[in-house]
Amino acid sequence: MLFAISLLSLGTLALARPSAPRSLSCTAATFEAFLASSNITATVNSAQAIAANGTFEVTNNTAYPSSPTKLQALCAVEVNVTSEAGTHYSFGLFLPDAWNNRFLAVGNGGYAGGINYIDMGAGAGYGFAVMSTDTGHSGGFQETAWAYNNTESITDWGWRAMHGSTVASKALINAWYGSASEYNYFSGCSVGGRQGLRALQLFPEDFDGVSAGAPAWWTTHNQLWAVKTLTYNYPANASHFIPSSMFNVIGAEVIKQCDPQDGVTDTIISDPFRCNFNPLTLLCAPNVTESCLIPDQIETLNKIYNDWVETNQTYVFSHLLLGTEASWNNDVGTGSLATLESQSGFAQDLMQLGDSWTFEDLTIETVELADEINPGNATADDFDLSPFYNRGGKLIHHHGLSDGTLATGSSLYFYTHVVRAIWEHGIDVDDFYRLFLIPGMEHCQSTPSNMNAPWYIAGANQPASISTSLHSVPCFSDAKHDVILALMAWVENGTAPDSIIATKWVDDNTQAEVSRQRPICPYPKEAKYNGTGDVDSADSWECATLY
Ligand SMILES: *[C@@H]1O[C@H](CO)[C@@H](O)[C@H](O)[C@H]1NC(C)=O
Ligand SMILES: *[C@@H]1O[C@H](CO)[C@@H](O)[C@H](O)[C@H]1NC(C)=O
Ligand SMILES: *[C@@H]1O[C@H](CO)[C@@H](O)[C@H](O)[C@H]1NC(C)=O
Ligand SMILES: *[C@@H]1O[C@H](CO)[C@@H](O)[C@H](O)[C@H]1NC(C)=O
Ligand SMILES: *[C@@H]1O[C@H](CO)[C@@H](O)[C@H](O)[C@H]1NC(C)=O
Ligand SMILES: *[C@@H]1O[C@H](CO)[C@@H](O)[C@H](O)[C@H]1NC(C)=O
Ligand SMILES: *[C@@H]1O[C@H](CO)[C@@H](O)[C@H](O)[C@H]1NC(C)=O
Ligand SMILES: *[C@@H]1O[C@H](CO)[C@@H](O)[C@H](O)[C@H]1NC(C)=O
Ligand SMILES: *[C@@H]1O[C@H](CO)[C@@H](O)[C@H](O)[C@H]1NC(C)=O
Ligand SMILES: *[C@@H]1O[C@H](CO)[C@@H](O)[C@H](O)[C@H]1NC(C)=O
Ligand SMILES: *[C@@H]1O[C@H](CO)[C@@H](O)[C@H](O)[C@H]1NC(C)=O
Repeated sequence: MLFAISLLSLGTLALARPSAPRSLSCTAATFEAFLASSNITATVNSAQAIAANGTFEVTNNTAYPSSPTKLQALCAVEVNVTSEAGTHYSFGLFLPDAWNNRFLAVGNGGYAGGINYIDMGAGAGYGFAVMSTDTGHSGGFQETAWAYNNTESITDWGWRAMHGSTVASKALINAWYGSASEYNYFSGCSVGGRQGLRALQLFPEDFDGVSAGAPAWWTTHNQLWAVKTLTYNYPANASHFIPSSMFNVIGAEVIKQCDPQDGVTDTIISDPFRCNFNPLTLLCAPNVTESCLIPDQIETLNKIYNDWVETNQTYVFSHLLLGTEASWNNDVGTGSLATLESQSGFAQDLMQLGDSWTFEDLTIETVELADEINPGNATADDFDLSPFYNRGGKLIHHHGLSDGTLATGSSLYFYTHVVRAIWEHGIDVDDFYRLFLIPGMEHCQSTPSNMNAPWYIAGANQPASISTSLHSVPCFSDAKHDVILALMAWVENGTAPDSIIATKWVDDNTQAEVSRQRPICPYPKEAKYNGTGDVDSADSWECATLY
């Protein structure tokens, strides 16, 4: 009996974890040969075997300098591809010895020109063969100088590097393991979310499942909106300027008013869309000048909390939501010219308007020109996702409701436009695409300290924000709590995610106690408290249509 059980468990292990063929060594020559036989024009920058519990040492990478640690045994390859346009983009590929027979591509953020090795480490933790591309240039999240007079490199950034690196990775995986990956996945946040959406629009065959967080999908609008929003709170010597010391005061007032309005007073604003917020409670009383706002500043607040709308009710972009105040240093800014200039790169370098363009030149014509150029064909606005649906693809989209970097309403706009576009094909959105709005989560990860909301679902960038060796959800590594495992269950077993339980540990330390868990619900459902249980326990909530 004992013997039979141990044989059985050995058998299961062997099936789940096939080893890489021993005849192949993790060297550049091995991969040069694979590339040649696949007709991929590329060179191998490096290939090195990483032993179990090892570190992949990242060097010379401004965008992603962190080295993933405590890796399982794997072969790490870096390849430099020459595109059909003659440009170059590189990708890194981790090939775990104990492969799960699946491929995962991870995305980038901002204009980051660098291989995202740290997110690759998290992917390899599951056993994925995992890839990230530098998107065809080298540089940090806000650097755009590479793009000026270089439209082919913008195309690499827009979609070509991700597609080409995916095709090449699949070929290398096939050659290395002796079999193709059974399933192919994508996980990215912010511009990474856009990369996933653009990939499933342009190349529906590339991925079976896509996890897209806070996607910056509307490149032409969201990049200019970032400039627009900074202008509301500029310059620092104007009467309408709100100093950053006031952001937390405003945030506290928003929680005070909005938290009870969602039915449960628990520091979390569950539904900022339905909060009826009165900013006049922040108005300075006579002779008071501290911790309050004068009418000109209230006017700025009103601009921040309202959509960017131009003449004739032309909607340009969504607004920052109530509950985003803790991260306003990014998008509302501190009234500095340098911050405004740092956001001008899209117009100057991607639209090719040059260094003489300043925020003062921003008009609706700039937006119209941006749409006409659509730099790099990056904007992911092909809302008809029926080709992806028809090939069995699944999309899990998430966005924090306290995102102070990219307006959460843009995700709703995307969702409703997809619903409209696929309706004409008679497709039910729930069958392949679900949107999860995470109350209290900021951009891709974390939560304001006074909201303390559960946010962790092992989405893109999340493990890396906590530790260099983390993957999945410690102690809750299952499809109920982990968005990657939920995506796999949907793609591979047809088990659609009816909720994803988000987790909050004390101090975001995964070794410490779990302080809160709560189901995140597929839009338009919201989590509904059962009225008697512990509000910090997921069991006390269910997903329901509240309105
Ligand atoms: C590579 O190119 C050669 C010559 O064009 C062709 O015969 C071969 O089938 C190609 N191989 C692959 C894997 O595409
Ligand atoms: C893994 O490596 C770390 C150093 O990076 C070491 O402290 C630890 O003991 C190692 N763990 C195992 C299980 O080998
Ligand atoms: C660092 O990367 C840049 C851009 O890829 C390259 O030009 C430079 O030679 C690299 N430096 C080192 C020390 O590898
Ligand atoms: C890729 O190759 C091109 C051409 O040799 C070179 O200019 C570029 O620096 C390489 N990129 C990386 C990241 O190695
Ligand atoms: C743009 O690049 C081309 C070559 O790629 C060069 O001839 C031209 O001078 C550049 N123009 C500017 C304005 O830098
Ligand atoms: C604000 O400062 C700028 C120069 O930094 C100056 O030109 C302007 O007059 C000042 N405005 C006010 C209202 O003080
Ligand atoms: C405001 O301050 C002025 C001058 O200090 C004083 O005369 C006035 O009574 C104060 N008003 C109130 C409402 O406190
Ligand atoms: C606004 O609408 C009016 C009436 O249709 C039209 O004449 C005008 O050109 C529009 N303005 C803009 C900026 O589109
Ligand atoms: C941009 O992508 C669309 C599909 O979204 C395609 O129809 C169009 O041809 C592309 N444009 C360019 C210039 O590549
Ligand atoms: C699919 O379902 C089977 C049986 O319940 C389970 O063992 C397997 O882990 C599931 N696969 C995924 C990817 O969730
Ligand atoms: C609410 O949920 C808790 C579990 O957290 C459970 O013990 C309790 O019975 C539930 N109450 C109702 C009214 O369903």
